[in-house]
Parts: sequence; structure tokens; C-alpha cells
Amino acid sequence: MSVIISGASAGIGRALARQLSEKGARLTLAARRGEKLRQLNDELGGKHLVVVADDGKPEDCRRIVVEAQQRFARIDTLVANAGYGIGRSVVDTTIDEWRDILATNVLGTTELIRHAVPIMRQQEKRDGLRGQVMIVSSAAARRGLVYFGAYSATKAAQLSVAEALRVELEPDAIAVTSVHPVTTSTEFFQVAEERVGRKLQVPGRTPLSQTADQVARAMARRIANPSRECWPHEPSRWLLGLATLLPVAGDFVMRRVKRVMDGAR
Ligand SMILES: NC(=O)c1ccc[n+]([C@@H]2O[C@H](COP(=O)([O-])OP(=O)(O)OC[C@H]3O[C@@H](n4cnc5c(N)ncnc54)[C@H](OP(=O)(O)O)[C@@H]3O)[C@@H](O)[C@H]2O)c1
Repeated sequence: MSVIISGASAGIGRALARQLSEKGARLTLAARRGEKLRQLNDELGGKHLVVVADDGKPEDCRRIVVEAQQRFARIDTLVANAGYGIGRSVVDTTIDEWRDILATNVLGTTELIRHAVPIMRQQEKRDGLRGQVMIVSSAAARRGLVYFGAYSATKAAQLSVAEALRVELEPDAIAVTSVHPVTTSTEFFQVAEERVGRKLQVPGRTPLSQTADQVARAMARRIANPSRECWPHEPSRWLLGLATLLPVAGDFVMRRVKRVMDGAR
């Protein structure tokens, strides 16, 4: 099985790479930090392909897919995982910050898909499928997070892409899975802090948060048995469903989060 993982140099992507490698998958490990990717590949026996690439650049996304196809002659699963957040209010988010986050989180995802799907369409079926697109969105796709409005918008966009694509690709026997982690202990919040240049009191530090390994385990299960959505923290799926029905309840929770975050300013 050949799997592309964007954002494999840290966090969820790296944990998934370790788990899939153990199961014998051949991986294309992509991200900007080549040394981290090479370290990971060495740790995993050096049999995987490393592609140093910036998902915010369309040409780099094309290159990831082309190199994966050249090396493994097949792409069974594309995991569009690379992404980051910015901890800033919507009003204070600059146009350049919007452009950058949309370029990486949304256009990086759609460019990978645009290049990978035509290859998948030409492949012979394995276990009834020609391939799978897995998009790492977030629980925030279903409810915008206070002070993470731009980030939440990119995650909602990824969910919309997954929903449309899933039905579009049904006749091609290509599965589409969106992944919706809750707060997960990775470099994510450190990066979000670095981008705004200050400490954030974020829900990443609550007992509810999951580890990258927990999220990766849930994803590995959905790669073995594709489903429409993957919620590594299952109760949050139902709670966020309720928040969609009752926006007043979602606002109530977010008001409390805002108070905590304001206290940290
Ligand atoms: N952690 C959470 O609480 C959480 C919750 C829900 C969803 N998610 C989603 O999970 C995904 C993975 O995040 P994580 O938590 O594992 O964070 P992380 O530890 O910061 O890892 C992010 C990964 O994305 C890569 N990346 C970021 N910008 C990139 C770019 N322009 N081009 C290529 N690669 C890029 C990073 O690699 P380089 O820096 O080496 O490029 C890194 O490998 C993200 O899409 C995130 O939105 C995270």
C-alpha cells in the first residue's frame, strides 16, 4: 500500500507515518523541514520517500504527487494533513495572514487532490477501491473557535470539499474521508503562538485533549476500512452536532473559552 502523508515531519502526520510503516505501507513523507523527514525515514528503516515541499505552493503539491507515483507506481491513500492555526481575532487577522492560511490549509489540500485523483482513477481496484482521499480537517469544521476564526474557516472549507468530493468520486470507486480531531498534543499550538508572537491560553491544555498517537490510530483504522468521517474523539461528534442545532449552546461554551483566553493576554 502506498500512502502520501503531507505534514509528516511532526504531530499527527508523523504519528500516522510510524503506525502505517509498522503495517508495511510504503510512504511518501512530505513537509518543509527536510531534516525532520529524513530523521523519521531513518527511524523507519529508510524505505520511504522524502519530499521537501511547501503545501502553500501549488508546484510543490504537484511534485509530491508526481514523485510518489514515480517511486511507488500507485497512490492508495492521499492524506492531506499539513496545516497550521493562527490565534487571532477575525478583525485583527490581516489579509496576508488570510492568504497564507488559505493557501496552505485549503489550496494545499485541493492541489494535492487535483493531482492525485487522476492517477487514482487509472489504477486497478484493490479491495473494491481505486484509492482514498483523507482530509485532516478538525472538530472546528463544525463550530468556529473563538480567536481561531481564520483557522476554523479553513477547516470548514476542507469539510465542504470532502462532502462534495465524496459524492463526485463515488462512480470512480475512490473513497473520501474527512478527519475531525479535537485538541491534540502536537506542535500545533506552539506554531499558532509563534505566528502571533504571544502565549495563548488554549483548550489544547485540558484533560480532554488527545495524543497524536490516538488520532493516528483512528486514522489508520479508516485507511484500512474507509468511512465518510473519522472522529478520533467520538463524543465530540455528537456534541458538535448539537451545537449545530443549537448555536446558542455553542456560543455559551465559546464565551467561556474567550474569557479564559482573554485572561491570558
Ligand atoms: N493539534 C490539534 O489540536 C489539531 C486539532 C484538529 C485538527 N488538527 C489538524 O491536524 C493537522 C496536523 O496538525 P498537527 O496537530 O499535527 O500540528 P503540527 O505538529 O504543527 O504538525 C503540522 C504539520 O504540517 C506541516 N506543515 C505546516 N505548514 C506546512 C506547509 N506550508 N507546507 C508543508 N507542510 C506544512 C508541518 O511541517 P513543516 O513545518 O516541516 O512544514 C507539520 O509536519 C493540521 O491540518 C491541523 O489543522 C490539529
